Amino acid sequence: MSVGKSIRILRIGHRYVRDYRTLTHLCLVSRALGAEAVYLEEIDDGLLEGIREVNESWGDGFQVLKVPSWKSAVSEAKKEGRTVIHLTMYGLPVQDKVEELRRSSRLLVAVGGPKVPAEAYQLADYNIAVTSQPHSEIAALAIVLHELQSGEELKKEFGPAKLKIVPSEKGKKVEKLA
Ligand SMILES: C[S@@+](CC[C@H](N)C(=O)[O-])C[C@H]1O[C@@H](n2cnc3c(N)ncnc32)[C@H](O)[C@@H]1O
Repeated sequence: MSVGKSIRILRIGHRYVRDYRTLTHLCLVSRALGAEAVYLEEIDDGLLEGIREVNESWGDGFQVLKVPSWKSAVSEAKKEGRTVIHLTMYGLPVQDKVEELRRSSRLLVAVGGPKVPAEAYQLADYNIAVTSQPHSEIAALAIVLHELQSGEELKKEFGPAKLKIVPSEKGKKVEKLA
């Protein structure tokens, strides 16, 4: 569960298997920063296994789900009453729209890969930019998740876990829970 909101992430674009590292980072950042699921059009077994291990060790509940197409995920999200936000450097500045976006409790945040179909810009409720400069879907997503949840996601407690970090000034402290 995300902190007070239901936020799901959609990655638009194919060729994931060749982009394994980026995709893993996208899932880990989504999970850590309060999203409840990532939707993908293709899923590599290694990615699923990696996220399953992270859930098992550090707290369960985050899902990686396969969808028939990015468009079907957008249309399902709209049926569920989610606000659909597409992250793009061509969009409106996040700082100008964030107050409005925070009013939605159910959201789908879509990010692109190497190429984003023009239709995605039309189907989204909002096209949102994190600066009008080209950078990365992972960086843009992290900042938008942080802004949408007003920083509350940083205090999120994760579900049943085997391990829990005990924050410390120096060194590494990990508590074994199971
Ligand atoms: C490496 S970029 C590729 C951008 C590509 N030229 C396109 O078709 O938009 C991959 C993704 O990062 C995200 N992204 C990159 N820069 C961004 C920015 N300034 N604001 C918001 N999202 C951004 C978008 O979701 C984009 O689809």
